Amino acid sequence: MFFQKADKKWKKVLAGPIDQQSKFLNKICQVNSRDALVLRERFFDNIEFPLMTEIFKSVKKIIARGEFDPSFRDLIYDRLLRIIDIEHLYPEEYEEGNECNGDDDNVIFGENYHVYTACYDDLDLLISFINSRSDIKSVCDLGSGTGRALLYMALMMDKKLDYLGLELVEERVEFTNSVASYFKLDNVKFETCDFLENPQAFAGRDVYYLYDSVGTDNVPRLIAHFKDLIDSGAKFYLLFISGWDEIMLNSLDNLAGLEKLESHQSRKQQGRVVNFYRS
Ligand SMILES: C[S@@+](CC[C@H](N)C(=O)[O-])C[C@H]1O[C@@H](n2cnc3c(N)ncnc32)[C@H](O)[C@@H]1O
Repeated sequence: MFFQKADKKWKKVLAGPIDQQSKFLNKICQVNSRDALVLRERFFDNIEFPLMTEIFKSVKKIIARGEFDPSFRDLIYDRLLRIIDIEHLYPEEYEEGNECNGDDDNVIFGENYHVYTACYDDLDLLISFINSRSDIKSVCDLGSGTGRALLYMALMMDKKLDYLGLELVEERVEFTNSVASYFKLDNVKFETCDFLENPQAFAGRDVYYLYDSVGTDNVPRLIAHFKDLIDSGAKFYLLFISGWDEIMLNSLDNLAGLEKLESHQSRKQQGRVVNFYRS
C-alpha cells in the first residue's frame, strides 16, 4: 500500500480551508469508547519543524472552534514534539525524592506516560511576553525536565532565540538533546548540570524560566544566586509559574532589585500564577 509522506499530506491539508483541516484532524485523532486518544501514528512522524508550527496553530484554531476536545491538546502536541515514551524518565523515586514534591495536579498524564511539566496554555503566556520584548535573545530553563517548555518556545516564537536547558537528571538531558537533534535545532541545547552547585552555568541569559524545579529546602539557595546576579548588575527577566507551595513565589515577590511586571492566573492549573519579573 502507498503511504503518502506525513509532511506532504499535512502541507496539502493546511493549504485548504479550516473545515477540511478540522475533518482531517478528527480523522487522524480519534477518541475511543474508553475516552483514550487513538492516533494514526504515520501522520505524526517525519514532519519538519517549520511545518509543525503551522500544524500546532491549526490544532489550536480547530479546538477554539469547538471541533475537537481541548483536553487532548497537550497529548497531540507532545506526540508531535516527540515527547513520548518517557515513562522511564519519571520513576517514582524522582517524584518523591530530590526534586519538586510531585502531586497529581502537576503531572500531565497521557496514554502510557506522564510528565511533570507546565501546560501549553501557560506556555503561550510566556511566548507572548517574550515575543513582545525585542531585548530578549536567550532563554534558560532552570530544570528543563523532558524539554516541553523550550521545544514549544522554539517552535512557536516569532523570532529565533538561543535556548539552554539545565537539568540534573542525565537521562532527561539525553532524551531532550535527542529530540532537538531529530528536529535539527541548532539553537536548542540541554546540559546535565546542578544549577544550585554551578550558578555560573546560567549567568548571562536574558530570560530565566522556572517551573517547580527546586524543593522548599533549596529555595533560599536559588534566591541567593539570583540576588548575586542582580547585585552584579545583570539585566534579566524571570518567568515563573508558581508551584505547589508559596515559598518561591513569596521569595521572588520580596527579592530586592526584582520588579514584577505582570501576574496572571494559570490558564489550566488551579491556584497557580504565572508571573513575569525584571531585574
Ligand atoms: C517540574 S520539572 C520542570 C520541567 C520543565 N521546566 C517544564 O516546564 O516542562 C523540574 C526539573 O528540575 C530538575 N531539577 C531540580 N533541581 C535541579 C538542580 N539543582 N539542577 C538542575 N535541575 C534540577 C528536576 O530534575 C526536574 O526535571
